[in-house]
Amino acid sequence: QYPNLAPTPPMGWNNWSYYMCGLNEKVVLDNAQALVRSGLAHKGYRTVTVDDCWMAKQRGPKGELVPDKAKFPHGMAYLGRQLHKMGLKFGIYEDVGTLTCGKFPGSLGHFPQDAKLFASWGVDYLKADGCNVPVPKGQSKEQAYHDLYRQQSRALRATGRPITFSVSAPAYFQYSGDKVWHQVIGWSAQLGNLWRGGADIAVQQSTPAKKWASIAFNFRYNANLADLQRAGRWNDPDFLLVGDAGLSRAEMQSQMSLWSVMAAPLISSTDLGEISPEARAILGNREVIAVDQDPLGVQGHIVQQDGDGVVLSKPLKNGDWAIALFNSGKTARTLSVTAGAAGLPEAGAYRVRDLVTGRSGLTRRDLIARNIPPHGTVLYRVTPH
Ligand code: GLA
Ligand code: GLA
Repeated sequence: QYPNLAPTPPMGWNNWSYYMCGLNEKVVLDNAQALVRSGLAHKGYRTVTVDDCWMAKQRGPKGELVPDKAKFPHGMAYLGRQLHKMGLKFGIYEDVGTLTCGKFPGSLGHFPQDAKLFASWGVDYLKADGCNVPVPKGQSKEQAYHDLYRQQSRALRATGRPITFSVSAPAYFQYSGDKVWHQVIGWSAQLGNLWRGGADIAVQQSTPAKKWASIAFNFRYNANLADLQRAGRWNDPDFLLVGDAGLSRAEMQSQMSLWSVMAAPLISSTDLGEISPEARAILGNREVIAVDQDPLGVQGHIVQQDGDGVVLSKPLKNGDWAIALFNSGKTARTLSVTAGAAGLPEAGAYRVRDLVTGRSGLTRRDLIARNIPPHGTVLYRVTPH
């Protein structure tokens, strides 16, 4: 079992969905500064991850990975030091196969060497993709992935540095049938701390409709995996697009609330220097973050579904419950759920707090949210009274 380095879901920022390969030292440090200045770092968004395309196309003379000099003129140890000085953590991207998805050198054949290099740079978090995994003769695709992720996991442990390990393997098996796919998630949870599932969240260049569709798709996909998650071993439905052009306020709010009720990693991928105060407030809502980071670490389950209305519920450590009422449809509507259906214990009454408006009230039996806008979610914290 890989060490429990993420007792609550990881939080931070990654360049991929917004900048893709257009990243460099300035982009990373500007966003890191924005995390600190906005107070988001203080609220938990601390891991800054440099995704694909940070490397040169070729390894160096000793077989070592070399950063792209034009993008990272001072190198990666420098970047790590700057991030650490700001009180942040340093995340990096690699691939367990021959090449990354962007066709830069993968770690296959170099696991201990690369892991040691990352540790020497002060890396605290590795996202290991699986874009180009060769399947040796006589092995199944599943065995090939398992073998390489095992090597990666061992190499990280052997560095002696605590490096949170994000495993991408399940994303490459989602159409392989439930049995194999659950098997892959099973060993991902042994070898790492979190694992990717679903599709890639839409990138900045996509249309607003596609961005929302990808959020809705990954929500659905991830909601079905609730039984496979436990505290410290997290399903990762990919980045928060909150702040991205084209998403409505309701859509941004929804993604944040749905990710939080699912105890998903909260990894923003946008230009944090440019986001609206409204988007910043959504990302920074302490009460919503507390639902995500609740120490019980339960992923909310879908407890009710009628047409476009979806209700999720999860218990929280202090005896409260988080209930999300999600209107996935195109018109405003009212959603309600009985306390019993939401899984709440019997009580004379329930105190219900809307974590976005801050409004509280008492109810005897039904939790009702009126006028939820299209694609909107209402997130309640409920205290049995
Ligand atoms: C895959 C991953 C993305 C990103 C790209 C980089 O598609 O799923 O999150 O890391 O590779 O090339
Ligand atoms: C490849 C595999 C599929 C599936 C997808 C995931 O296409 O052949 O089985 O895992 O990748 O992206």
